[in-house]
Amino acid sequence: MMLPPIPAPLRAPLDRAIEVNKMVLDLVRQSPPWKSIFRNAYPNTDENRALVMFNSFFLHIMPVKVKQNTLKWTYTFGLGLMTFYLFLLLFITGIILMFLYVPAAERAYQDMQRLGTSVAYGQLLRNSHRWAAHLMVLFVFLHMCRVFYTGGYKPPRDFNWVVGVLLLVLTLLLSFSGYILTWDQLAASAITVGANIGGASPFLGGIVKAFILGADEPGPATLIRVYAFHVILLPTAVFIMAGVHFWRIRKDGGLSAPATARKARHVLVPSARGGFTVKEVPPVSPEAQVPPSPEEVRR
Ligand code: HEM
Repeated sequence: MMLPPIPAPLRAPLDRAIEVNKMVLDLVRQSPPWKSIFRNAYPNTDENRALVMFNSFFLHIMPVKVKQNTLKWTYTFGLGLMTFYLFLLLFITGIILMFLYVPAAERAYQDMQRLGTSVAYGQLLRNSHRWAAHLMVLFVFLHMCRVFYTGGYKPPRDFNWVVGVLLLVLTLLLSFSGYILTWDQLAASAITVGANIGGASPFLGGIVKAFILGADEPGPATLIRVYAFHVILLPTAVFIMAGVHFWRIRKDGGLSAPATARKARHVLVPSARGGFTVKEVPPVSPEAQVPPSPEEVRR
């Protein structure tokens, strides 16, 4: 649609308004507070893009460049991130549940029942937490299968595999401890079985069982320690270990890649539509190899 031409008497004041607007914007952009927040130039070059990632607390966990194969949805199916998002959902719904649940043996079960009868959206809250927990266990398992299938456990990522196993154990412990908090008949049976399994540990059986139960049999002491584990110790451990897990991905050179993708080199070339496109450079034979140009090194 064509806009009607601006009438002549309005043109001068309009130009002036645009000029003033530009001056004000320039003034704001040159001011120290603005510069302290926006520290980098607009990320329209490789160097500026890298600086934006390095200088931001939230972005620095991300790599500046990623391997092309890992951008393919079917390489990871986003399973690791989905596991993490489910954990965040559990964290948020769990905090709200803490306002509505008291870990005391004489009222824990009633508190759970009240969620479904007299708390607004209580059932939704409880089910969101429960379903996210089930899904987290499922997704962490699927994620582990994906990593195994793509060979992501091989050096140099073997340490991250170990961190992952720890995350898996923490996830299962969170799931188990949450199951106990309902404090119904199933929970009583589960903690009895759990404590007896712990009690069967070699050499330390008695100590492990006493540590889990806090008494000779399941009771108020058991509930409060399972609660402490479920709401503080285990989630904190997951946050810390997930941080290490993500940091390791960067340190190990990003996600794994099939051998063919590792051999191919990718460079960024300016595209006709502006911006950059990724171009695959065929592997160079050893005889024909020439040292990379300074420009390539900078990339
Ligand atoms: C709370 C649990 C976990 C979270 C939140 C998590 C998160 C992630 C994320 C976001 C990635 C990036 C790629 C992707 O999305 O697939 C990743 C990669 C990886 N994860 Fe996990 N993970 C968890 C558990 C595990 C487990 C149980 C294992 C293995 C026992 C594992 C081993 C790995 C490895 C080795 C990589 C690098 C894979 C590659 O380079 O291809 N993770 N994880």
